[in-house]
Amino acid sequence: MTEITIKVNNKTHELTVSGSHRLLDLLRDDLNLKGTKEGCAVGECGACTVILDGEAVCSCLILAAQCNGKEVETIENLAENNTLSALQQAFIDHGGSQCGYCTPGVLMSTKALLDRNPHPSEEEIKTALEGNICRCTGYVPILDSIKSVLPLKREV
Ligand code: FES
Ligand code: FES
Repeated sequence: MTEITIKVNNKTHELTVSGSHRLLDLLRDDLNLKGTKEGCAVGECGACTVILDGEAVCSCLILAAQCNGKEVETIENLAENNTLSALQQAFIDHGGSQCGYCTPGVLMSTKALLDRNPHPSEEEIKTALEGNICRCTGYVPILDSIKSVLPLKREV
């Protein structure tokens, strides 16, 4: 067992975790943050994507013990005072979410991109989302949702 300190959605937690406990388990089971989903569990679907120290990562591939001293942001951090973020609202307005299982991961990959690059090209958006699989939307509505919130659209 390992003792770790981890900041999740701006709140610091001290936890004792086993060697096999994943970041995904820590979020869903220890902190009851069920928004982050488990799909493939092998790093191929992106449903479990969260932001770890500014980078979009698959939380199914990272051990909780590796996260000592690190900062994590999950889908639960996007809405403020029960108001959806502009990005979340855009997914509703443009049909970017259907069953919704992939959506938390897609949103967190997108947020990580927009945090470091507020003016991405369409190709840059596609590259940021290449690890996120959606079985419902055909991806065009996802791209439309994201492009609708860009402060400055530019051609690729
Ligand atoms: Fe982590 Fe699929 S559950 S990538
Ligand atoms: Fe169903 Fe993406 S909305 S998997």
